[in-house]
Amino acid sequence: MCGIVGALTDRPVAPLMLDALRRLEYRGYDSAGLATLADGVLHRRRAAGKLAGLEAVLAAEPLPGTSGIGHTRWATHGPPTVANAHPHVAGRVAVVHNGIIENHAALKAELKAEGVVFTSDTDTEVVAHLLDRAIRHGQTPQEAMAALMPRLAGAFAFVVLVAGEDDLLLAARRASPLAIGLGDGEAFVGSDAVALAPLTRRIVYLEDGDWAVLRRGGVRVFRDAGVPVERPEQISTVTSAMVGKGNYRHFMEKEIHEQPEAIAHTLHAVLDPGTGRATIPPPLDAPGIPKITIVAAGTSYYAGLTARYWLESLAGIATEVELASEFRDRDAVLPPGGVAIAISQSGESLDTLMALRRAKELGQKVLALVNVPESTIARESDGVLLTRAGPEFGVASTKATTAQLTALCALAIALGRAHGRLSEERATALREALVGLPGRVGEVLQHEAHFMRIAHDLARARDVLYLGRGLSYPIALEGALKLKEITYIHAEGYAAGEMKHGPIALIDETMPVVILAPTDGWFEKTASNVSEVRARGGKVILLTDAAGAARLGEPGDHVIVLPTVDPMVAPILYAVPVQLLAYYAAVEKGTDADQPRNLAKSVTVE
Ligand code: G6P
Repeated sequence: MCGIVGALTDRPVAPLMLDALRRLEYRGYDSAGLATLADGVLHRRRAAGKLAGLEAVLAAEPLPGTSGIGHTRWATHGPPTVANAHPHVAGRVAVVHNGIIENHAALKAELKAEGVVFTSDTDTEVVAHLLDRAIRHGQTPQEAMAALMPRLAGAFAFVVLVAGEDDLLLAARRASPLAIGLGDGEAFVGSDAVALAPLTRRIVYLEDGDWAVLRRGGVRVFRDAGVPVERPEQISTVTSAMVGKGNYRHFMEKEIHEQPEAIAHTLHAVLDPGTGRATIPPPLDAPGIPKITIVAAGTSYYAGLTARYWLESLAGIATEVELASEFRDRDAVLPPGGVAIAISQSGESLDTLMALRRAKELGQKVLALVNVPESTIARESDGVLLTRAGPEFGVASTKATTAQLTALCALAIALGRAHGRLSEERATALREALVGLPGRVGEVLQHEAHFMRIAHDLARARDVLYLGRGLSYPIALEGALKLKEITYIHAEGYAAGEMKHGPIALIDETMPVVILAPTDGWFEKTASNVSEVRARGGKVILLTDAAGAARLGEPGDHVIVLPTVDPMVAPILYAVPVQLLAYYAAVEKGTDADQPRNLAKSVTVE
């Protein structure tokens, strides 16, 4: 949710920051801007829309200087105009900001009473004015920052550049992520280590509530009104080779194709190479866990819904799945000794972080399932289970989702064994089914031309219904989400059994119905739903296996025949075709699959 970057260098800083912003554009792309210092004087360029707009402005009017800050915005306060684009400047101070200053209205009123005139609708501008006022009144920038921090409420990260201070950046984080990069006589700061990957791999992660003073010679970290603290330097595992699109048109296309590796790497990390079994991470290794509560948002929530089936039927553990944004403000009744699992690709979704904290307040131990080991959610949890999908940039999650599902399934199998619910024979068969998945996903990816043909029709629909039962139900929800977020076609996912209680009224000859029907315990019932759709003239797009196609396929349908797998792991495989349908429908419609309107990948506002 907004990407921020700052750099103190010995080379022209604007191109370098523009490049870093490209790697942060997944966080928002409503507007972009840079500010630099040249001979102590602030210069600024801003543009509405995606980064390409700022590039054009910079081509016409390059920015001088070797120190600067940059921003790519996901609008919260004020429309995506140039006036609301960051950096925001007040007197000597320029600020780029991610998150929300919750008490901005009170601070704004205080400043207005002193005659300050605001030039934007943003909450950010108060930070620039408060720091500028303190500096004008004789404080050093560092003193001004120390005085400011206790006055700010909310979840945010920001970076400050001060006119006349060529060797200084101030940075702060509260809940929103921020990483500092150390170079050779250079210093950097950015929303994540990926943004800094080509610049340095020496990273200092700020803890929640930290603020920092960066100079070319190093960084000093403080808390509250200026208490110094030590934060260790770490070597980031992200390399610059991981952050490009390769030969693909979109990150989403590349990431869909990286799924065999993402699943295989995740399994490799989760399964012990000696025994082939998964180790159960704490706090799930405790005996007699009465209940698991999964909290997550978006696609990660659907991975959680799938995991509920596994945890209940393989491990026999009562499981509830909660939308993080709802759970955090509810008085959920949770048993002592219960465990919460926070699922998040980024490990930074603010709703999920707040839900994690709420679960702790309610006496639960927390396991994080994240793709970013250094993320806030990982650091605040009692145990961590990592997916090894590699950096994901497409706003619509693909490889991270199938990696999450893989890790969750392996975990449920291990819990099933530990709780004496699964025989070793069945557990071995299930682990083998998981190990075979990269190959099966690879087979699905070879039939792209077929997906393109179906997507051609799908792209012309106004509404699309996705149906699935049991383990296929969450994937139906996921398929509908994927389609709506990247093509803007209205789509709904429904439990197939619920179709007769409402959505059946929508079905006519213009409405494609995507039905997920692997031959599993729910197949016969789903087959009846297929007939009901046909009887009302609906256009059937059937995702099934060879046996299902032989039993159900009819000449008028689109039938996608997927490899036959153990029904327990089928949702992991079936997640792939729904991604491909949505992706090719977006290509057909000409919408931007990587940067769909109004969305952002990492949502660090509430
Ligand atoms: C945003 C993205 C979704 C993502 C969700 C949760 O809404 O657009 O694609 O699934 O955040 O993200 P997380 O990083 O917590 O998994």
